[in-house]
Amino acid sequence: MHVLKLTDLDLAGKRVFIRADLNVPQNADGSIVDDTRIRATVPGIRAALSAGAAVMVTSHLGRPAEGACRPEDSLAPMAKRLAELLGCPVPLRTGWTEGVEVAPGEVVLLENCRCNKGEKKNDDALARKLAALCDIYANDAFGTAHRAEATTHAMAKYAPVACAGPLMAAEIEALTRCFLNPARPLVAIVAGAKVSTKLTILESLAAKVDQLVVGGGILNTFVLASGTQIGKSLAEPDLVAAANKVMAAVFAKGGSVPLPIDVVTAKALSKDAAATIKPAGEVAADDMILDIGPQSAAAIEAIIAKAGTVVWNGPLGVFEFGQFGEGTRRVAEAIAASKAYSIAGGGETLAAIAKYGVTDRISYISTGGGAFLEFLEGKTLPAIAVLEQRAKA
Ligand code: 3PG
Repeated sequence: MHVLKLTDLDLAGKRVFIRADLNVPQNADGSIVDDTRIRATVPGIRAALSAGAAVMVTSHLGRPAEGACRPEDSLAPMAKRLAELLGCPVPLRTGWTEGVEVAPGEVVLLENCRCNKGEKKNDDALARKLAALCDIYANDAFGTAHRAEATTHAMAKYAPVACAGPLMAAEIEALTRCFLNPARPLVAIVAGAKVSTKLTILESLAAKVDQLVVGGGILNTFVLASGTQIGKSLAEPDLVAAANKVMAAVFAKGGSVPLPIDVVTAKALSKDAAATIKPAGEVAADDMILDIGPQSAAAIEAIIAKAGTVVWNGPLGVFEFGQFGEGTRRVAEAIAASKAYSIAGGGETLAAIAKYGVTDRISYISTGGGAFLEFLEGKTLPAIAVLEQRAKA
C-alpha cells in the first residue's frame, strides 16, 4: 500500500486539514473516559505545527443527525483535551464549511464533521467545498477508515494534495506487515462471543494464517463442530458447518486450529459464580464454558512462543470476572513475552490488554475498532484506497 505521508511533505505556510478520529468514549457529563485516540492524533498535529503550517483538525463524534449540532455532539471536550496535550490554545470553530481563519503555527478544531449535511453520504459538493479550505488534506483517522464519508473519502479526491497522517501511516504499515510478508508462523487469535459477528474474519484469516486460535463463545461453536458436548454454553449450532469449513481451510494449508484440552465452567454467568476446571470432554449438561483451562492455555502459550507474527482480537473468556480471566491473561502475557511481531485491536481486546498491563509489550496496538476488524476481513478500507489512488496520480 503506497500513500503519501504528511511527514514527507513541505508544510511551511501551507493550510493543512487533518481528518482525525477523536470519537472517544465519554461519561454522561461529557468528560472523556479514555483519551487514547486523542493522544494518538497529537504527533500529526505537532508535526504540522512545527513545520509552520496553519492547521485545521476535524473529527466525527457519535452518529448525530446532520444539519444541527446538539451540545452532546460537540467536540468541545476534545478541544480542551487537545489544548492540554499540545500545550497551546485549540479554539473550536463552528460553521466552518464556509471558511476557516487560521494562521501558520496555529491550530483550530472544526466542530463535529458529521453535523454537516452530506457528510455521511460522501457528498461530492460538500467534499469539493471542504477540499477548497486546504492546500494539503491529511487523513489521520484510521478508526474511521472503513467509512466512505465526505471528510474520509470524497474530500481526498479533490484536495490539492491528499496524504496519510503519521497515525494512519503507522496503522497501514503495522497491518500490512502482518499480512503481506509476515514472519512465520503467522498466528491469529480470534475470540469473542459469536461466530456470526466474526465469520468473515475467520474465513479470511483461515486462508492466510498458519495457526488459528479461537476463543470465547466462538470456540464453543468450534468444539460443538468437533462433536464434543458444551452443556448450556453460548454457541451458534447453525454455524457448526461454517466452523468446520474454517477448520478445513486451515488444515488444507497444513495449519491447525487447537481445540481445548480443559475448560473453566460455571453453573451461571455471574461475578460470584464458582469456577470449576474440567477436561473439555466432561462438560455437564448444565455447565457453561466461560474460559479455557490451564492446559489449554499452556498449549496456546506454546504456539505463541514459536510464532513469528501474532494478530489478536477478542478475549478468550469472560475476563471481566476474575475467575474466568486466566485464559485471556495468560494469552496476553504470552504475546507480551514472545519475540513475535504482535498486533492487537478492538475495544474488548484493548480493555484486556490494559487490565493485564501488557500495553507496552505488544508491538502495535491499533486505534481501529470496526476499521481493524474490516482490515482483518480483507476488505478494502475506502479512506486508505483513495489515498493510494491519489499517490498513483
Ligand atoms: C469507531 O469508533 O469505531 C470509529 O470512530 C467509527 O465510528 P462509526 O462506527 O460511528 O463510524
